Formats: sequence, C-alpha cells, structure tokens
Amino acid sequence: MALTIGVDVGGTKIASGVVDDDGRILERCLRQTPADNPEKVAVTIADVVSELAGRHEVEAVGVGAAGFVDETRSFVRFAPNLAWREEPLQEKVSELVGLPVVVENDANAMAWGEYRFGAGRGETHVVCVTVGTGIGGGAVFGGELYRGRWGMGAEWGHMQVIPDGRPCGCGHRGCWEKYASGSSLLIDARASAEADPSSAVHLLELAGSVDVLRGEHVTEAARRGDRAALDAFDSLAQWLAQGLADLAVILDPGRYIIGGGVSAAADLFMDKVREAYAERLIGRGHRPLAEIRVAELGPSAGLVGAADLARQR
Ligand code: BGC
Ligand code: NA
Ligand code: ZN
Repeated sequence: MALTIGVDVGGTKIASGVVDDDGRILERCLRQTPADNPEKVAVTIADVVSELAGRHEVEAVGVGAAGFVDETRSFVRFAPNLAWREEPLQEKVSELVGLPVVVENDANAMAWGEYRFGAGRGETHVVCVTVGTGIGGGAVFGGELYRGRWGMGAEWGHMQVIPDGRPCGCGHRGCWEKYASGSSLLIDARASAEADPSSAVHLLELAGSVDVLRGEHVTEAARRGDRAALDAFDSLAQWLAQGLADLAVILDPGRYIIGGGVSAAADLFMDKVREAYAERLIGRGHRPLAEIRVAELGPSAGLVGAADLARQR
C-alpha cells in the first residue's frame, strides 16, 4: 500500500493529509495560509509534509494550489487571489522535504479526487466547479484530467459574464467568480442589508455590522429566513446555472460536480441551480440533461486528489 501526502493550499487554509491508494485519509493536518507571503507558504507546506512524513512512510507529495500551474506542474505562474507570481513551488517544496513533489491546480486536484473516489465515479465526462472565495474549474474526460496546452485550461471562474462588471483579482472585470462565489454572497448580502436593513435583521445581529460580514453569517441568516441572505443565494444559484449552461455549450459533460467551501450550504441553492440550468440550457428538450451533483469528499477532495496525482506521477 503506497502512501502519499496531499496538500490543498487555499486562500485561508492549508489542508493536508496522508492518503492511501483507496483515497482514505490516515492522518490530517491543518494550518493557516500565510496568504501574502509565498516564501512562508512554501515553508509551511514543507513543515506539514515533514511532520506527516515523520510518522508515515510516504513516497511522494501532491500539492493543489489555487492558481495557474504550468504544464510541467512545477510553477504557479499566476494566482488571481494569492501572491504567487512565477513561483517555483515544486522546487522549493521538494528541496525542503526531500521527496518527489507534483504541483497541480487546486480545482483540477479536486476534480481528480471526486472522479477517482467521489461523485465523479463511473462517469466519462466530468466537469467540476469549485465554489469558494473564487470559482475553480476541473474536468476529467475519458479518465484523463484535462489540462490544456500549457496547464492552464479549466479556469472557468474567469469567463467574463458582465462587461465592465465587478473588479476581479485577475485584473479584469465581470468574471464569473465575482457573481457566483463566497465573495459574491458577501457583496450581494451586504448591498441588500445596506439598502434595506429590515431585510437583514438576523444577518446584522449575527455579524454585528456589515463591515465584518463572513460567509457563515450569510448561510446562517439564510437558514433563519433573512430576505437579504436568501436573495444572495438566489442570485448565486442563477449565475451558477447560467455558467453551467454556458459550459455545456462548449463541453457537453455527463455530470457536473459542485464543490468548494460554499457547497457545504448546497441545500440552500442546488435545487434552484438544477431548475435554472434546465431552463437555460441551449437545445433543451433535444439533449440529455447532465446531472448536477454536490462533491462527496467535501473539503478533502483537493488533498485526496493531489495525493492520488502524486502517486500516479
Ligand atoms: C483561480 C483558480 C483556482 C480557483 C479556486 C480562481 O480564482 O484562478 O486557479 O482554482 O480560484 O481556488
Ligand atoms: Na483548473
Ligand atoms: Zn477574473
């Protein structure tokens, strides 16, 4: 039984674990991401790897990183929501830990994890959308992870949905991830609460003030029935469905998988996404409807997928 370590580097947390070849996590380790400092990120990854490798015999390390990873799976060339620019992450981490390291885009890793061990099993055309701070993309076609020519395919979070829309971390405006993500929930809920505080009584009570609003406040307020929070989830559902319908035009998948932090609140928006997707799909009635499922491995999908990719390096 070959063990590998998977590391998922997100904007706020670095989640890691020792994973076996059935995708089971034997031990986990969680740290905060020193988000503004690439040097510290590499050192933190190396720390957790060394800690885990000290207790298990592991053969390789897979790192899922929230950014544009090059085709050699060594550099994070660009990260819209983190400080990485031309970052030689593979080299830095492998030198520090003395093990083979594979770097992969975080959403690609998640898609792979779900395809191998989760909601993507048994489907030949899987398209993943991770809904977190931003939107990540991943696709597995015919059992192969789709990377594009330079490793930067499946970046659908940055499709422009509104000309001159909300500014995005990538430097452009109007990207999909500014309308159907954790950050869009905050933008929408805050705007409603400011325009009409009576629609956001729970939200304001939970957060104290709109300036310190967090995702979990919006989720909890929606569960308690606040109009502002429910509207924010409705808007997310509509935008998500539109994006999935657009992706169907290009990719014609058999199954979509929705993951990422926001998918923990899937009960608040998934039925609407399925309904709106069916309405917005071009050629509906004349083509099968792709299934839309929630990720099964939850927040562990990325690290499990990264670990498996390292095993198959
Ligand atoms: C980045 C992707 C990443 C996604 C989720 C996007 O903004 O461009 O590389 O996969 O966020 O973390
Ligand atoms: Na991707
Ligand atoms: Zn963008």
